[in-house]
Amino acid sequence: MLKPEPDVAPPATADPQFRADVLAGLARRPRAIPARWFYDHRGSELFEAITALPEYYPARAETAILRRIGPDLAALTGEGCAVVEFGSGSSTKTPLVLAAVAPRAYVPIDISGAFLRESARSLAAAFPQLPVIPLEADFTAPLTLPAAVAAAPKLGFFPGSTIGNLAPAAAVDLLRAMRTSLGADDQRGAQLLIGMDRIKDAETLIAAYEDAAGVTAAFNLNLLARINRELAGTVPLDAFQHEARWNDSAARIEMHLMATRAVSFVVAGLPFTFAEGESIHTENSHKYGARDARLLLRAGGWTPVREWLDDEGRFAVILAEALPPEPAP
Ligand code: AVJ
Repeated sequence: MLKPEPDVAPPATADPQFRADVLAGLARRPRAIPARWFYDHRGSELFEAITALPEYYPARAETAILRRIGPDLAALTGEGCAVVEFGSGSSTKTPLVLAAVAPRAYVPIDISGAFLRESARSLAAAFPQLPVIPLEADFTAPLTLPAAVAAAPKLGFFPGSTIGNLAPAAAVDLLRAMRTSLGADDQRGAQLLIGMDRIKDAETLIAAYEDAAGVTAAFNLNLLARINRELAGTVPLDAFQHEARWNDSAARIEMHLMATRAVSFVVAGLPFTFAEGESIHTENSHKYGARDARLLLRAGGWTPVREWLDDEGRFAVILAEALPPEPAP
């Protein structure tokens, strides 16, 4: 016999990893949920809106650098490399790099097939001659690139200061994984073009993450809305407030969701209680001084060869090379 249809549509099936990360993150002290869960459809829209905010200088600064450095970059990479982007690609930044270096292929890597297909489609229109070979994979661990680019020299591209989401130890692990993925161990040395936000005055940094229009607040709070949507949550959004803090000793912006009153709710059938002033830590955005950035790259197996700043020195784009290990004295 057929089962009766349910009266109410069941909630959209949640990613089991999302469920596990949220439940573990709410149970821990301090409470923390990985920043990667910001990016559902709504979260990605809100992030796009963030990049257009007057206070959010990193996106504009990096784009201005990439616009300017085309000829320099081409001279350092040569023509005909395979550009491997870690992340599904930005509609403004990626074309600047592809136009500059005239690659033989473009391989965007992302864990979300939907984002990959979307960006591959828009790029194919702008670069009709360029083979685009999307790879649906988790790039935080070493991966195998498509056979079609096996023989090409590789240029990794990791823009957006996304490396800043990771604490230094995890950032080093990621840089090493990228080095392996790009075949640097067995080939003529891959290159990596990476964007890193610089340490600057706390006021500028905080404003970039606590904009006057409240878009970053909406981006942060959307995580709670997503929990309610996908994990049958009853989190009262009006009990939480977006907060951006500069943690000077760790050189990072932290985003938190702060309970403005004592509150209890349920997520996936489990109860949680917050006292007033307790927070969920939702994102780290590490900032790097000039030497910090170079040290991080070297620790991750990459030798910086060139770096470019925007006019105001707020943001750095660095080209690094994977060299064979130096003999230690
Ligand atoms: C996507 C990690 C580069 O840290 O600046 C922007 C994300 N969060 N505003 C950053 C973000 C709040 C962003 N990254």
